[in-house]
Amino acid sequence: MPEFRFPVIGHGGDYNPDQWLDRPDVLEQDVALMREARCNLMSVGIFAWSALEPREGEYSFAWLRGVLDRLHAAGVSVLLATPSGARPAWMSRKYPEVLRVENGHRNFHGGRENHCYTSPVYRAFVTRMNTRLAGEFGAHPAVVGWHISNEYCGECHCELCQSAFRAWLKRKYQTLDSLNHAWWTAFWSKTFTDWEEIHSPEPNGETQLCGLTLDWRRFVSDQTVDFVKCETAPIRRIAPNLPVTINTMGFFYGLDYPSFADVVDFVGYDSYPMWGSKSDYDVALETSFTFDLVRGFLNKPWSLMECTPSQVNWHEICQLKRPGMHMLSCVQALAHGSDTAMMFQWRKSRGGPEKFHGAVVGHDMTNRTRTFKEVKATGELLETLSEIVHSETKSDVALIFDQANRWALDGAQGPRKDKDYFGVTFDHYRALSRAGVNVDVIDMEKPFDSYKLLVAPYLYMLKPGAAERLTAFVNGGGALVLTFFSGIVDENDLCFLGGAPGPLRSLAGVWAEETDALYDGQTHKMVMKPGNALGLSGAYTCGFLADLLHAETASVQAEYEGDYVSGTPCLTQNGNVWYIASRPEPRFLNDFYQALLPRAGVTPIVPSLPEGMIACRRTKDGRDYTFVLNFTGADAPVALPAGIDLAAGQPAAPNATLPKNGFAVIRTEQARG
Ligand code: GLA
Ligand code: ZN
Repeated sequence: MPEFRFPVIGHGGDYNPDQWLDRPDVLEQDVALMREARCNLMSVGIFAWSALEPREGEYSFAWLRGVLDRLHAAGVSVLLATPSGARPAWMSRKYPEVLRVENGHRNFHGGRENHCYTSPVYRAFVTRMNTRLAGEFGAHPAVVGWHISNEYCGECHCELCQSAFRAWLKRKYQTLDSLNHAWWTAFWSKTFTDWEEIHSPEPNGETQLCGLTLDWRRFVSDQTVDFVKCETAPIRRIAPNLPVTINTMGFFYGLDYPSFADVVDFVGYDSYPMWGSKSDYDVALETSFTFDLVRGFLNKPWSLMECTPSQVNWHEICQLKRPGMHMLSCVQALAHGSDTAMMFQWRKSRGGPEKFHGAVVGHDMTNRTRTFKEVKATGELLETLSEIVHSETKSDVALIFDQANRWALDGAQGPRKDKDYFGVTFDHYRALSRAGVNVDVIDMEKPFDSYKLLVAPYLYMLKPGAAERLTAFVNGGGALVLTFFSGIVDENDLCFLGGAPGPLRSLAGVWAEETDALYDGQTHKMVMKPGNALGLSGAYTCGFLADLLHAETASVQAEYEGDYVSGTPCLTQNGNVWYIASRPEPRFLNDFYQALLPRAGVTPIVPSLPEGMIACRRTKDGRDYTFVLNFTGADAPVALPAGIDLAAGQPAAPNATLPKNGFAVIRTEQARG
């Protein structure tokens, strides 16, 4: 499959000239301002179906050719969009089957992302459109890749989707007996006697059969992948050398993005942190977690496909990015492996739902705004950082975040309603980032062997082979961190028999007899045992969930204190496997990883990273690129590695002070061969 190898850092964003077809002067101004802002890459025509096919079968490509020619002449390249994210009203009216069905009703035309992924009619329209687009523009010199649709999401419950779901289930289970067993349908008399009796989970129907809900989520994700295949088939046939991408939404609940690996060549991500809603560092850490997750979908450089240059229009409070934050947050994406800094959107729409969404060019139509100037300064900076493009992220540490595990956890009734899988995994990410190491965020099916430390919190579900692969990882010398409520169910949400953590029991050397849930504010103490292997002392608090643990072959490193569990284990070590039986306060995880990382042979990117800063490293051709980002909200000192500061074009000062919202990108020749 083709690679996305844009030669410099891509800078630009969503560009919708289809909204300004009667204003040729606007295109001219756009091109002039793009050059001024050092923009070199635009995603064009994402919602342009009505302009491309104003009436059924009547295509209109001349305007788009004019735009592409003009951009090319100005040195701006294009990710050409397929327009399936929203369709013309004439199509919905004449072919209602393209519209989604929810709660037993077919939706009216409206919004976007409101189409059935199964509908043969919609697929035929998409195939025709994409065939035409690829034929017209697949060889256009401006076009360097395809932006397929936009933020795929949602589900449809029409009869076509029901049949496709049943066919999916037949492929998976072969027989109704094995489906009934996997879903444990004997409970509440839910045994199915005919495939036609099975219906997707909907609020007015079956919502409590965990296995059904879980398989439906997988089906929706797979059906979306299948739809992408339908979209890309003509493109790959007609323009086989152009890479394709989809713009994802990171931790979005509805799709299992790693399963798109076979149908896209690179991954885009649309990033809209709520800067200002809490400390910049807190917002930045969640953003970094998401960036590392997105890189993990394919384990290669990705694309920041959208971010706002100023404000969004859909947060409760749409705060403007403060001065310097746009540049810093773009560099943050690069630090975590993005090869682009793209924005939504180039020009503000004059009307419609997003007319107040930030854009490089506003309704004033000038280059005089703070936003334009910051974007331009960012564009100039990106030119100085150009050599980092295509560099890789090599991490000694991986953290598992697995979407099917998340779905299964949330589908379980008990031991508490809010499972907070994001929050629990983020606790660990935060401590690892605080320690200043690169972290890959991966699903449990990715290879583990390149890591020294694997952190797998809350591994409620174990997919087939996961326990064996974790065991092999540990036998190969890797260090593994497990936590409470792990090894509970198999891939179909059937509980393992024989005691938790199920297939991980001998690996961890513990038996979790029960899992207690604590009310908010209720905590146990976690008291470190004297002489524990990590050299930690004193007590920490923990809560949320708390396993009642028996150490079998493991040695006890900390014990609970408080309530009737006093004196029982809450942190154990079994060789290289650590088991944390409850959710500790952040201070514990900071101390724990500070002690564990050197034991696991992992060294920080910069020594003694100050709190509020984030450090990442990318690597290419024997060179390291070290990024240090200052999210402390103030000027702050930091010890930087020796090397060339790329933005300044001169050797980095070893004891630098990074200004508020400042950063350093330092090139170092690797000492090793
Ligand atoms: C999403 C969409 C864009 C736009 C932005 C607004 O990411 O992909 O079309 O709606 O949000 O923030
Ligand atoms: Zn449907």
